[in-house]
Amino acid sequence: MSVTILGIETSCDETSAAVVVDGVEVKANIIASQVELHQKFGGVVPEVASRKHLELINHVIIEAVEEAGITYQDLDAVAVTYGPGLVGALLVGVSAAKAMAYGLEKPLIGVNHIEGHIYANFLHRPDLQFPVLCLVVSGGHSDLVLIEHHGSYRLLGRTRDDAAGEAFDKVARAMGLGYPGGPLIDRLAREGNAQAVQIPRAYLEEGSLDFSFSGTKTAVLNYLNRTKQKGEEVNTADLAASFQQAVVDVLVDKSLLAAAKYNVKTIMLAGGVAANGLLRRQLQQEAGKKDIQVAYPPVILCTDNAAMIACAGYYKYLRGDFAPLTLNAIPALTLGADKY
Ligand code: KG4
Ligand code: ZN
Repeated sequence: MSVTILGIETSCDETSAAVVVDGVEVKANIIASQVELHQKFGGVVPEVASRKHLELINHVIIEAVEEAGITYQDLDAVAVTYGPGLVGALLVGVSAAKAMAYGLEKPLIGVNHIEGHIYANFLHRPDLQFPVLCLVVSGGHSDLVLIEHHGSYRLLGRTRDDAAGEAFDKVARAMGLGYPGGPLIDRLAREGNAQAVQIPRAYLEEGSLDFSFSGTKTAVLNYLNRTKQKGEEVNTADLAASFQQAVVDVLVDKSLLAAAKYNVKTIMLAGGVAANGLLRRQLQQEAGKKDIQVAYPPVILCTDNAAMIACAGYYKYLRGDFAPLTLNAIPALTLGADKY
């Protein structure tokens, strides 16, 4: 018997609904992005995001079910992101999911957004063997997580200041490139020289698996100021390439350090920054030298989407891990610490 799950994701600035069968077959994955709406503010405005989610949520769910070619009764469960994220944004998805679960008399599944990012890997690679090390790099997180079996997470390291994606976004904004910064820097860096500008890398104490990107970001801001004061032109491609290289070097080195320390032979990438071309290439190259395999989701499944939520929901369904209809949005929900 197959298991069909409706996934709903509204934690930040994408309103998304997906239908996924058995955690692998994506029948529909509708993503309504609000990026353009927030672009003029240079970042996500929480209140604007919540209102937009409210406008879009029903349309996105209806479209997903239609595109999947199923009826609502064909659904086995409704899985929804209930944290971490913007509280007003989360509440829209959580309310919609609860209403559907109640109305359809189907189980409700609460999914941690970060768990969703991790499970974007299992959508394509259900064969991945545990233990797995996951580098979660998004707009809000830079975490190294050891996963020994489905649903078990051990946080080995995290950022002490800016998340990797946040650093990309802030640097891009200072360079006048726009929002979100990651894909813009990724593209621009391809034409630049990564050795052109000296950017510091923070490795912290010997053996530390934590990250720090604020010094790296500040070095770029200082470089921009100095160049401006001297009345010189900034070579944005060189600066983008140098900054990206500094971030990627630390992400790759610490992932390999963690893999060696915990004797893990598979590293997965997850989160928006997992779409970064250099990160994918460099990790694969360096891990290959140590006989470690690397997995990452297709680009469209790296950034926020509901298919990854439905996939994480599928494994919770198999464990019978259901949420009550009192499920609430939890903006600071931590991985592996479900609260319902
Ligand atoms: O996972 P995500 O969609 O949302 C959060 O949960 O935060 O990640 C968004 C982040 C943004 O900071 C964006 O700039 C970054 O992912 N990002 C990238 C790339 N694509 C998205 N960063 C570097 N290179 C990319 N190609
Ligand atoms: Zn995300």
